Amino acid sequence: MARRLGTSAGEIEEAARALRAGRLVAFPTETVYGLGAVATNDRAVAAIFAAKGRPRFNPLIVHVTDAAAARPLVRWNELAERLAERFWPGALTLVLPRAEGCPLSLLVSAGGDTVGLRAPAHPVAQALLAATVLPVAAPSANPAGQVSPTTADHVEAGLGDRIDLIVDGGPCPIGVESTVLDLTFSPPRLLRPGGVTREQLEAAIGPLAAPAAPSADGTPDDPVRAPGQLSSHYAPARPLRLDATSVDADEALLAFGPHPLEGAATTLNLSEAGDLEEAAANLFAMLRALDRPEHRAIAVMPIPAHGLGEAIRDRLIRAAAPRSGGKGIE
Ligand code: TXA
Ligand code: MG
Repeated sequence: MARRLGTSAGEIEEAARALRAGRLVAFPTETVYGLGAVATNDRAVAAIFAAKGRPRFNPLIVHVTDAAAARPLVRWNELAERLAERFWPGALTLVLPRAEGCPLSLLVSAGGDTVGLRAPAHPVAQALLAATVLPVAAPSANPAGQVSPTTADHVEAGLGDRIDLIVDGGPCPIGVESTVLDLTFSPPRLLRPGGVTREQLEAAIGPLAAPAAPSADGTPDDPVRAPGQLSSHYAPARPLRLDATSVDADEALLAFGPHPLEGAATTLNLSEAGDLEEAAANLFAMLRALDRPEHRAIAVMPIPAHGLGEAIRDRLIRAAAPRSGGKGIE
C-alpha cells in the first residue's frame, strides 16, 4: 500500500527526496492528482507507464515551477511567453518542440519531438516542484482508461498497491484536467479542453484552430497529435446516457441545475445553482459515486457547452462512447 503524507514542510521534503531517488509519488494539483516521477530519469518515467498500464505512445505532461524552468526544455516562443504570463501557474499545458539537447526522458514525448509543459498553481504542487528542483512528469494518477482522481482516496483506490507515496492535499479545486494547447500549429490547436476555457484563450491570443471532435467510433484521427482522442478515455464501468430529459427507476441521475429530473434510483447534482465551476469540481467524484452495480446506467442532464462546460461535456462524451475494448488509451 502507498504511504500517505500530509503537506508539512518535512513531508514535502520527504516526497521530493523520494522523487529524486526515482520513485513514484502522487500529488495534488489544482486540476486532478498527478502521478509524478522525475522527468529526466528514464527508469522512473517508465515506471509511470507500468503503474498506470498506459500505452507508450501516449505522451506525459512535464510539470515545472514557472516559465523560467520551462524555457530551456523546449523551443520556447513569443506565443508561449504570452500564454505563460497570462495563465501560469495554472491549468494550461503548452505543447512545444523539444529543445536541442533537451534533458527530458524521450519517454515523456512518446517517440514524438514535442513536450507538453505545465506550471501548476496548487501550492502543494509548487512546493513539491521547488523542493525536487527537477521537472516532474505526471499524468493523472489513475489506472489507464479510468476516471481521473480528485482526492487522495481516489488515487489509493486505483493505484495504492503500485506506487510509493501519496501526498494528500485534500480535494482538487478545479476538478477537470488542464487544457492542452498545441503551439506547433498556427493558429494553435486545442488538443483537450480543460480548466482554462477556450474563451479565455481566445481573448488572450485570438482564434484557435478548429477542434478535432472526439470520434464516435473511438478511433483517434491522429494518435500522436491528439492522443486524448480515443473515446474510452474517461470511462466509468456503467454506461452513460447524455442529455437525458427523463430517467428510469433503475438508473442513477447526474443532475445539473435547480430542477433535477425525478424518478432516478439515486441522484447527485453537479450544481444546483447551475454553476459550471462547481460542476467541474464535482464531476469525477460524482461519476465514481454513481458508478455502482445496482445502477443499470447513469443518465446525465444537459450541460451548457460554454466556459468549463466544454471540458465537462468532452469528458462525458468520452465516458459515454463505445468502449474500445478494455483499457482505452489513457
Ligand atoms: O491537469 C492535468 O493535465 C493533469 C495534472 C496531473 O497535471 N495531468 C493529466 O495528464 O491529465 P494525462 O497524462 O492524464 O493527460 C495528458 C494529456 C494526454 O491526453 C496526452 O496525450 C496529452 O496531454 N499530451 C501530453 N504531452 C503531449 C504532447 N507532447 N503532445 C500532444 N499531447 C500531449
Ligand atoms: Mg489522464
